[in-house]
Amino acid sequence: MDKLRMVGGSPLQGEVIIAGAKNAALPILCACLLTDQTITLRNVPDLQDVRTMLKLLQEIGVEVRFPDAADRSYVALNAGNIKSSEATYEMVKTMRASILVLGPLLARMHSAKVSLPGGCAIGARPVDQHIKGLKAMGATIKIEGGYIQAETPSPQNRLKGASILTDMITVTGTENLLMAASLANGTTILENAAREPEVGDLAELLVKMGAKITGIGTDRLVIEGVDKLHGAEHSVIPDRIEAGTFLCAVAAAGGEILVKHCRPGTLDAVIVKLQEAGLKMEVGSDWIKASMSGRPKAVSFRTSEYPAFPTDMQAQLMAVNAIASGNATITETIFENRFMHVQELNRLGADIAIEGNTAIAQGVEALSGAIVMATDLRASASLVIAGLAAQGETQVDRIYHLDRGYDRMEQKLTLLGANIVRVK
Ligand code: EPZ
Repeated sequence: MDKLRMVGGSPLQGEVIIAGAKNAALPILCACLLTDQTITLRNVPDLQDVRTMLKLLQEIGVEVRFPDAADRSYVALNAGNIKSSEATYEMVKTMRASILVLGPLLARMHSAKVSLPGGCAIGARPVDQHIKGLKAMGATIKIEGGYIQAETPSPQNRLKGASILTDMITVTGTENLLMAASLANGTTILENAAREPEVGDLAELLVKMGAKITGIGTDRLVIEGVDKLHGAEHSVIPDRIEAGTFLCAVAAAGGEILVKHCRPGTLDAVIVKLQEAGLKMEVGSDWIKASMSGRPKAVSFRTSEYPAFPTDMQAQLMAVNAIASGNATITETIFENRFMHVQELNRLGADIAIEGNTAIAQGVEALSGAIVMATDLRASASLVIAGLAAQGETQVDRIYHLDRGYDRMEQKLTLLGANIVRVK
């Protein structure tokens, strides 16, 4: 298993180009299942999770092409000859986002068999709201042998529009139901819909494909189902979490960086908190110049649904708080077990205590390098950030977690002057 080895202490300098958003690309790739025409995508990030999703789609029968062999961010997909509407346990167990084929397959093929995603390190992460919404649209759903078996109501063979209010705000739940509703017979109203920018990006693509959706960006989406959707071209929005991760890296390690090809308007909550921590930022239309000198100030925060502070940035800002002056209270309200980076940060000399869904970080003067283990995607980013700030050498094991959501993180950090290498 690959490891990352770094020697902390050098400030970051230079430019970093942000890739397309993982959590927009994953539902957007699945949207190709809704039509027999070609969907052409740009700015698709070259990540393990994206490669896994492309493999899953190919196994379902989607033709995946890279029109320019040298450019993995430019992908053409055609689901004209779907041969199976099943996502097996083998495929789904490596990536929970595989659940995103359920809605489109059911809407297009009128049946779908998708393995229930197992638990995950950060929480139980059930999919009951996805199922509740599809049932409201008339689907019959059986859970058997670890699989979700869904059928549309015969003889119309189509889902029907429905009013759906999810019990909690769910990002992929909203995305699954949005895709299913776009081909349903009648109008669907999704109340309590997720407002994450990645949901909006999917909706923009669906509209380009001929879907009739209003309320994009709000918590109430109204979808008037159509009989067919057609092909489209789309460029995936920049990854706000990757951008936020690099902002936390410079806040912890010091220096000055220019974050390019990002969308600052999707990062307001993160920018506000990092300003409180002492990061100086100049914000442009698609760039952020960030500089940090001296020690960051502790900043308390609580995660919540968009537009509030994102749970996917919690571990990264905690790493900044680990070496900040003062104490910070960090409350995680979305997932029940998203503090596994705490004990690893403490191995680096941090002083963080957990009380239920709150962590109390007492900032220390300096961290000292050690061997630590990544446990999930954003935890691994947090450990890399801490390693960049720590004195001496840090080794982060199991960085396959990192590779799921970051495109060549160590190469981008090396270009910023960090002393970091991947060890096979
Ligand atoms: C998406 O996961 C993201 N993944 C996650 O990013 C992100 O952390 C999460 O949204 C929250 O923003 C993708 O978009 C591929 P949820 P998702 O459904 O959709 C509960 C990363 O690091 N819930 O919004 O699975 C659930 O247990 C990943 O890139 C139900 O109870 O998250 C959680 O507590 C990690 N029943 C809360 O709601 C359901 O049917 C929010 O989950 C659905 C969700």
